[in-house]
Amino acid sequence: MLRLFAALVVLGLLLACFTSWLFDSYDGAWHPKRSLFPQSGRSGGPPHPGGQRDNIFWFVQVSDIHISRFHDPRRIPDFEKFCTDTIDVIKPDLVLATGDLTDAKTESKMGSLQHEVEWQAYHNVLKRSRVLERTKWIDIRGNHDAFNIVSLESVNNYYRKYSANQKVGSFHYVHRTPFGNYSFICADATLVPGPKRPYNFFGIIDESQMDMLETFREESLSSNKSIWFGHYTTSTVISPSPGIRELMSTAVAYLCGHLHTLGGFMPALHSRHQGGTLELELGDWMDNRRYRILAFDHDLFSFSDLTFEDWPAMLITNPKDAQYLQPGVEPLGRIRSSTHIRCLWSLLSLNPPSQPCT
Ligand SMILES: *[C@@H]1O[C@H](CO)[C@@H](O)[C@H](O)[C@H]1NC(C)=O
Ligand SMILES: *[C@@H]1O[C@H](CO)[C@@H](O)[C@H](O)[C@H]1NC(C)=O
Ligand SMILES: [Zn+2]
Repeated sequence: MLRLFAALVVLGLLLACFTSWLFDSYDGAWHPKRSLFPQSGRSGGPPHPGGQRDNIFWFVQVSDIHISRFHDPRRIPDFEKFCTDTIDVIKPDLVLATGDLTDAKTESKMGSLQHEVEWQAYHNVLKRSRVLERTKWIDIRGNHDAFNIVSLESVNNYYRKYSANQKVGSFHYVHRTPFGNYSFICADATLVPGPKRPYNFFGIIDESQMDMLETFREESLSSNKSIWFGHYTTSTVISPSPGIRELMSTAVAYLCGHLHTLGGFMPALHSRHQGGTLELELGDWMDNRRYRILAFDHDLFSFSDLTFEDWPAMLITNPKDAQYLQPGVEPLGRIRSSTHIRCLWSLLSLNPPSQPCT
């Protein structure tokens, strides 16, 4: 009995160490250098949020889908319903699928193997739902999508054949709207060649990838706002100095997956880098059917983590949640001078279009 208790204490300690290590260099609190309403000027100028449906766009993130030939037969049909019904109602400008599109495990769950049928199932969902015709779908690789891939030219690199994006490596996509340009920068830390399970829990960004990302960062400075995204949390990415967090310090947020919900211990892995960038890990589709709606409303960033088929889906875009204010990056003065509370809402049963409510 005593021994069992001791084992539990050790396990608890290990878990505590693991989570504190995950967050060790994270800074959830206010940085003293960042005041709430800095040098004003650009922070509060027009346009101001009012009663019109203007200067706003929204997008969706889904992560760790893990299409599997062995486990959870509902996972694929639910995902198809997400691509049809949910996307139809929300009508996002773009969707980011941040890796682990497929499970790529052996039936015993102990080994890893790329299964072409899993990739075909993913591909078929995209095709049958015609979601690619209705939104910009950006799907990137996760560590599971890179298991056992000797080189990117390997026949078993099915990502190149069956994904929507098919581009391996980091890239910069600019979303252009009449009211502004928005940068989406993908930091791809998956390993090449891809080792077997469990040897790619950590991702790597090498010197040449860092140089490329530095170029993207420079380019993104002419956009209104930028978002970075990838599969790995920054705590599980190894990168040369000055480090990946420093590179993305001009971004509003870094969106990722990979840790799922830490076995239910951590339903929301939201944190803030020392430079101010929000790091927003999203729980998995695999077991928890999570997805996220994000918006830029008059260049103010907001998001809401949701569960598939929990309606209504709602996101208040102004005034945004005070926990996630980004002084120095967002024009926060616009909140004070706004005249309306603004939100996005959808109620599937009544089936109205997704729309800002004022
Ligand atoms: C986006 O940036 C341009 C150029 O700086 C600016 O004119 C425009 O108002 C910005 N858009 C929003 C929604 O703030
Ligand atoms: C967006 O980028 C294009 C091309 O660089 C530029 O011509 C346009 O003025 C930009 N739009 C805004 C609102 O800044
Ligand atoms: Zn995963």
